[in-house]
Amino acid sequence: MSAASPTTIATDPARSTAASNDWPALWQTLSQGVGVGRYTDPQFTRLEFEKLWSRVWQVAARIDEIPEQGDYTTYRIGDQSILLVRVDESTIKAFYNFCPHRGTTLGHGCGHFDGGKIICPYHGWRWDLQGNIKLVLERNEFCDGKLQDGDVAMREVHSRVFAGFVFINLDPNPESFDDFIAPLRQFLDDIVLGDMRHIWWKRTVIPCNWKVAQEAFYEAYHVSATHPQLEKVGREVVYGDRPDGPMMYRDLTYDAFEHGHGQFYGGDKTPMAGHVQEPKSTDDLLEEMAARMNLTAEGLGAMILKEDIELLLTLRGKHLPPGTNLGAEYVRLQYETAAKLSRPMPKPTPEIIGRWGGVTVAFPNVLVLLQAGSAALYRVLPHATDPNQCTFEIRSVKTYPAGVKTPRAVVEDITDPEQVGLIPRQDLGNLPRVQEGLRSTGMRQAWLASNQEKLILNMHRELDRYLRS
Ligand code: FES
Ligand SMILES: [Fe+2]
Repeated sequence: MSAASPTTIATDPARSTAASNDWPALWQTLSQGVGVGRYTDPQFTRLEFEKLWSRVWQVAARIDEIPEQGDYTTYRIGDQSILLVRVDESTIKAFYNFCPHRGTTLGHGCGHFDGGKIICPYHGWRWDLQGNIKLVLERNEFCDGKLQDGDVAMREVHSRVFAGFVFINLDPNPESFDDFIAPLRQFLDDIVLGDMRHIWWKRTVIPCNWKVAQEAFYEAYHVSATHPQLEKVGREVVYGDRPDGPMMYRDLTYDAFEHGHGQFYGGDKTPMAGHVQEPKSTDDLLEEMAARMNLTAEGLGAMILKEDIELLLTLRGKHLPPGTNLGAEYVRLQYETAAKLSRPMPKPTPEIIGRWGGVTVAFPNVLVLLQAGSAALYRVLPHATDPNQCTFEIRSVKTYPAGVKTPRAVVEDITDPEQVGLIPRQDLGNLPRVQEGLRSTGMRQAWLASNQEKLILNMHRELDRYLRS
């Protein structure tokens, strides 16, 4: 491990208690920074499994991974495998994924239990979808014929379905899910995330710590340098001679919530609210807005969809009513179109519309990037032992018109960066370099901007709450 170093780094006086000093300096969460050991030390990774992943509510699946009765999928966290089963239309159960006879996992990857029978492939013991034992072959041979059903029932894990996610908690006495989710509950309800279903879902392994990967999306401070095509003023400041200017991402609001959650968004500084960098005539504005939306539609292939741009372009040449603006008119058209199709949409309040294009952080490892009735969902999973590796996933989801049957969500493993759009490719391209730099013995801490990187600090403080209790 990175042993406790005699060299001290600036600690927050409020946090430099005796309790915090029993940690190596490189593990410390500082007032405006974090020690590098949190990303690179295998002992820290071990502590995260022991104290965080074993006790925190975490997203194990989306419900559309197991849409039909008898469908199952598996969720792996560290060395633990959890089996998630669709019992009936309204019930999903989570079980430890093992056969009580001699250990075989009862589900592998994802699949379907035909006839509602969970059959162990080794010696054929069988359960129903509720986890009740139904067949022990040669039962008389066990416990002198006195084997109890309860001894060999499948072992359930605490789970909750919310916002289209299946959350699980491996703690036998978990903290209240309602307390955990409270800071996000209203928002996730208002954006109808629970009604959103799969369009695509991709997964890749990245040579960086799981926190490095997710923190790439905890702020928009990186946009000027990493995504110069998205921020023309910032691009000229970073790569040109421009001294300063109205960078769009400077105007975002960052809110850190309890339990490590948080959010950043444009509010009334979004194109939907008519906010643009250089105002032009309405027709120019429409082309500019379409081109800008296309950067996301093509560059990510999620959040903003081609159909959204086609809808915007129907406003070409139309006279806008006085007192409105293009963004507002587009929003009105989206709701009108969705209503005709009975397609669920986010609550049409200025507060919620101001969060389109923003990012919501759900502790410990999920992000929701919201648009109108659609979203990109990111999840990062730690490697079981190696702090320098993680698995990163992107899902594109949206609400569908009433009555449309959506396909079962199945993950696609990708190895070629070209299989994701330009925007995530730019983000993910930084990450191996970040991890390499964090391992430098010359580096002791990362510095965090007080406002624009506050969600990172908030996440680390919550992580410490788990690790230190
Ligand atoms: S290991 Fe499952 S029935 Fe034997
Ligand atoms: Fe980015």
